Order: sequence, then C-alpha cells, then structure tokens
Amino acid sequence: MNKKKVLITGASRGLGLAISKKLSAEYSLILHASSPESFTHIEPGSQLLCADFADPEQLTAFCKQLKKEHGDSLYAVVNNAGVTFDKSLIYQPEDDIDKMLNINLKAPIMICKTAMKIFNLNKTGVIINMSSIVGETGNAFQAVYAATKAGLAALSRSLAQEAAATSDEGHSIRVFSVSPGFIETDMTQSIPEQFKEKYLKMIPAKRFGSTDEVAGIIEFLLSDKASYINGTNIHVNGGLL
Ligand SMILES: NC(=O)c1ccc[n+]([C@@H]2O[C@H](COP(=O)([O-])OP(=O)(O)OC[C@H]3O[C@@H](n4cnc5c(N)ncnc54)[C@H](OP(=O)(O)O)[C@@H]3O)[C@@H](O)[C@H]2O)c1
Repeated sequence: MNKKKVLITGASRGLGLAISKKLSAEYSLILHASSPESFTHIEPGSQLLCADFADPEQLTAFCKQLKKEHGDSLYAVVNNAGVTFDKSLIYQPEDDIDKMLNINLKAPIMICKTAMKIFNLNKTGVIINMSSIVGETGNAFQAVYAATKAGLAALSRSLAQEAAATSDEGHSIRVFSVSPGFIETDMTQSIPEQFKEKYLKMIPAKRFGSTDEVAGIIEFLLSDKASYINGTNIHVNGGLL
C-alpha cells in the first residue's frame, strides 16, 4: 500500500528533525530546509524540497514545485520552519522583522494556500502550523516573533472553518496549530542562563520539553485517532501558562 505523503518544513534540525524521525516509518516524507546542505541526517526514502523562505522568489518557486510534484498525493503539511531574533522592538533591525514575518508567517500562509487547493479537491488533508506559547502569552523581546506565532493560531482556526464553509458535502480536512513551550533545540540553546533559570522555575514540570515529546503529538494529530479534533491550538508546555 502507498504511504501517505507528508511535507515537513524546517526538517534539518530540532523539532522538524525529530518529527521526521517519528513519522518516517508510516509516511512518505518531503523534507524541507533552507538548503540541502543544512541536513546532517535524512530519513531513508525521504525526498528533499528546499527553499530559503526569507526570499519571496524562492517561496513562490517552492509552492509551485510542491503542487506540480506532489499535488495529486499530498496528505499533510507540518509548517514547522521558524526563526527568532530576540531584541527589544525599539532596537530591532527592519531586516530581522521582515525575516520573521516572511519565514514564520508568510511562508506557512502560502504553503497553506497551496495545500488547501489540493485538499479541497481531495476532500481530505491535514495542516499543522507550529505556533508557540508566546503567541498566546506574549514575551518581552519577542514581540514580532510572538505576533507571527499568534498569526499562525488564527490562520489555523480560520482555515478549519473555511474548509467547512466551502464544502457542501462532508470532508475530512483538519487544520491545527501546536504551541510548544520551551523545548531543547538550537532555538532555546541561545537563551541566556539567567533567563533559562527563570523559565525553569515557572514551568510546573521543572524541565524543558524534548523534541520527541512534541513529535509524538504531531504523530497523533496526523493519525485517524485525532479525526474529530479540528481548528484548535494544542499546547505542549509542561503546564506553563
Ligand atoms: N524550540 C522551542 O522551544 C520552540 C518553542 C515554541 C515554538 N517553536 C517553534 O518550532 C519550530 C521549530 O523550532 P526549533 O526549535 O526546532 O528550531 P531550530 O532548531 O532553530 O530549526 C529551525 C528550522 O527552520 C529552518 N529555517 C530557518 N531559517 C529558514 C529560512 N530562511 N528558510 C527556510 N527554513 C528556515 C531551519 O533550516 P536550516 O537548517 O536550513 O536553517 C531549521 O530546519 C519553529 O517554528 C519555532 O518557532 C520552538
């Protein structure tokens, strides 16, 4: 039997890499990073589709290629690629702001647009947008990053409703956001020690999460076990709110 096809963006490191390892036995994977050189590990049998999402032309070409090469068989998208440049907004260079908007928000929107066209025709499909706890709580020195993550939660809720509004008959298109708290990856590696200690005190679990703990949630959401969950934001944060 043919395996269902899943695109994972930002699959070269951190959460995306853990998700690719978790899903590779059951799904046929299309793995993305900003360039093929970013990968140190590629799950056997996976295909690569790379683009720098900070570059609008590369993003457009990526979406076209996704539709052309995988349009008939795409089952799910995990919009996971993301960046943060932590700084007071007052001192944040406009270039950093543009990068966060383009990579974290515009790229998922354009990929959702491509995927929804495919899913509407197939009447089935799953989109998971990687948001963040700070999209709900806000966070000092992450104003733009938090805004992009709040945007992804709103995008997901809206698209879940839109799928229903544009289908007379039933469909099984599901759209979620997942909001990790603090997870051990390159992204959290750069948090200064005194902030890490402060955050650890605030987390009821008293530890950062592992990439595997988030990957397990993605595996569940893609499966039929989650067939009646839609249009919602799933928190994975050790109780931090
Ligand atoms: N770690 C956490 O605690 C945490 C918490 C909440 C939410 N999240 C979210 O979870 C997602 C993954 O985070 P992570 O911690 O795993 O991050 P990470 O280890 O820093 O990995 C980021 C991924 O995004 C890709 N990426 C970066 N810049 C890109 C660009 N210009 N174009 C295309 N792809 C690009 C990277 O590819 P390259 O290798 O090619 O650069 C890499 O695969 C992000 O959306 C993040 O906001 C993380």
